[in-house]
Amino acid sequence: MGTETPRLVEPTVALESAFRSLVEDYRAADEGRYQNIPELAGDDFDAYVRRLDEKSRGIGLRPGHVPQTTFWLVRGGTTIVATSRLRHRLTPALEQEGGHIGYDVSPSERRKGYGTRLLALTLEKARARGLQRVLVTCDTDNVASARIIQKNGGQLAGEVISARSGKPVS
Ligand SMILES: CC(C)(COP(=O)(O)OP(=O)(O)OC[C@H]1O[C@@H](n2cnc3c(N)ncnc32)[C@H](O)[C@@H]1OP(=O)(O)O)[C@@H](O)C(=O)NCCC(=O)NCCS
Repeated sequence: MGTETPRLVEPTVALESAFRSLVEDYRAADEGRYQNIPELAGDDFDAYVRRLDEKSRGIGLRPGHVPQTTFWLVRGGTTIVATSRLRHRLTPALEQEGGHIGYDVSPSERRKGYGTRLLALTLEKARARGLQRVLVTCDTDNVASARIIQKNGGQLAGEVISARSGKPVS
C-alpha cells in the first residue's frame, strides 16, 4: 500500500477523471461488469454521482432494493484504487447473497492490501450507521475475498448455493 494512507470518500464530481481512469483499468482487464461500470463510461458523470447519492438516501430505489451508500478508496487524493457499497439493511435476497457490503479493487491495484483496508474502513461506516453485525458474502472459491473477510474478523455464518451463479457462497 506504500506510505500513503488511502481515504474512503463518498462519490464526488471532483474525482471524475480518477473515476474514468478506474473504468479504463477495468476495461483493460476485461472486467467491465463490475460495479455497473459499463453503463457509466461516456455517460453524464454529474448525473451518475447524483444517482449514487439518491441511492444512498433511498430515493428512486428499484422495488425490493434498499438504500446503499457507495464509497471510493482514494490514494493521494487523485487515484481511486477501490470501491465499496454498503447496504443499509438486508433483504431476503441479500441475506442469501450480497450481504451488507460489496467491494472491488481496481485490477491493477490488487494484492497491495487495499481490499483488506477497504473492508475495514467500510465496516467503520457500517458501525457508524449503527449496524452491530454485518453480513459479507463471497463465493467459496474467492480465496482473496475470503481472506479479506477473515482478516477483518469475519466468522463463517453459513453456506448457500447461489441462485445467480449456481456456485456455493458463504
Ligand atoms: C477480492 C479482491 C477485492 C481482493 O483485493 P486485494 O486488494 O487484492 O486484496 P488484499 O491485497 O487486501 O489481499 C487480501 C488477502 O488475499 C490474498 N490474495 C489477494 N489476491 C489473491 C489471489 N488472486 N489469490 C490468492 N490470494 C490472494 C492476499 O495475499 C491477502 O492475503 P494475506 O494477507 O494472507 O497475504 C479483488 O481481487 C477484487 O476486486 N476481485 C474482484 C471482485 C471481488 O471478488 N470482490 C469481492 C466480492 S465478495
